[in-house]
Amino acid sequence: MTSVAMQENKENIQQSGVYISTYGCQMNVNDTDRMYALLEMVNFNPVNRPEDADLIIINSCSVREKPVHKVHSEVGRYKNLKKTNPKLKIGVGGCVGQQEKQRLLTDVPLLDFVFGTDAIDELPDIVEKAYKNDQKIVRARFEHQKPYQIQTLNSNPGVSTFVNITKGCDNFCTFCVVPFTRGRERSRATSELVKDIQTLVKRGVKEVTLLGQNVNSYKSECGTNFAQLLERLAQDTDIERIRYTTSHPKDFDQELCDVMQRNREKICEYIHLPVQSGNSEVLARMNRGYTRQHYLEKVQMIKDTIPGVSLSTDIIVGFPGETEEQFYDTLSLLDEVQYETLFAFKYSPRPFTKAAKFEDQLSEQEKSERLNQLFKKHDEISFALAKKYEGQNLKVLVEKYDEENQRVSGRSTQNKLVHFSGESDLIGKTVLVNITEAFPQTLRGKRVEA
Ligand code: SAH
Ligand code: SF4
Ligand code: F3S
Repeated sequence: MTSVAMQENKENIQQSGVYISTYGCQMNVNDTDRMYALLEMVNFNPVNRPEDADLIIINSCSVREKPVHKVHSEVGRYKNLKKTNPKLKIGVGGCVGQQEKQRLLTDVPLLDFVFGTDAIDELPDIVEKAYKNDQKIVRARFEHQKPYQIQTLNSNPGVSTFVNITKGCDNFCTFCVVPFTRGRERSRATSELVKDIQTLVKRGVKEVTLLGQNVNSYKSECGTNFAQLLERLAQDTDIERIRYTTSHPKDFDQELCDVMQRNREKICEYIHLPVQSGNSEVLARMNRGYTRQHYLEKVQMIKDTIPGVSLSTDIIVGFPGETEEQFYDTLSLLDEVQYETLFAFKYSPRPFTKAAKFEDQLSEQEKSERLNQLFKKHDEISFALAKKYEGQNLKVLVEKYDEENQRVSGRSTQNKLVHFSGESDLIGKTVLVNITEAFPQTLRGKRVEA
């Protein structure tokens, strides 16, 4: 390409808008923020509608049901945009990109590039090449050996933001595609995390959520474990609040409970502890590494050490071979643990995974019935649990202002969404709120004057 043509190309890119649609977990939400920040450095500015974009990226998720189909149909919706804007490039990133690689480009002719979960930092280069050479690109190699070094790039992070501490997963639960789409587990250096969080504090962040597929298997190169990392971040940074997700029951120990309790001024007393099933045989076939009994012992340890702790979980119904009785064990576990929040899913066979080849796959109807039963049971439990907050004073970090109703909302340390009367100047402040009424999903309260 001549230098004049390159210059023209640069100018084209300089006026460009990028739209990213995001599926999946918080990891992907965070990856999208990184993509926007990286693309801003090469003059792509975020736009709110695909119609206004010169670059569209689908940050895909592969964890459940028909993910490839979802990508196909979203790209299909952009067909006309390609006609009206010949400059438009469309790419797919995230876990479907990692899983499908070249096949996705072959199957979806409208696509210009596909990149994997380890190639986000290469995005500016990928996009530049896609524009310059007008050729299709696939980048989906894993960086298994390299140390995990990134920065939380989000330049406008708001009050609360995510910070990745690990990537990948080595657990290979038999139902789960994540070890195949995110690669081997790697941890970021502790000193890098301290610096990163201090930078976020300077940008006005009050709360960070530490992210990883299994945060409590964090291990830095100098040997720091997750409990030690949490304590270091609580003591050596000025962040006001720390949350984390997801922790794996098999790696949850007394040391972690003690650190949370010792630093409860900063570390929120909310734990997402995915159980997946309440039956030990199913858990063994899932390769979860704990039995029902072990799990219940961990829950007891947590409740004994951290009074007032709030728990949530993930459950899969209709795992291959799950009998009616085994499912009842999951129902009864809800009674025993008393989760405030439940995320439940119908089992969905995933590529590369062992459970996809198991016999005795359940019918869609059976899975749907079990899912409904589970949610019904949980609704009864969770509303009663929410009611217990009535009359209590909760510490709420204000995140949003609703002008129409002149009220603000934020989350309590227990991760409850709380609404109360207030003005926009409260955003970013932590205030004490007396809970006047509990609803199934939210709490309403009144500010307690300091
Ligand atoms: N690392 C986290 C889970 C990440 S995936 C952990 O171990 O807890 C998020 C949730 O999706 C899982 O907890 C599980 O409940 C659900 N999930 C994963 N694979 C699934 C599948 N094949 N079918 C249905 N649900 C699945
Ligand atoms: Fe998937 Fe299990 Fe790893 Fe969670 S711990 S990401 S469920 S393999
Ligand atoms: Fe989905 Fe990948 Fe997250 S499969 S749940 S986006 S790790």
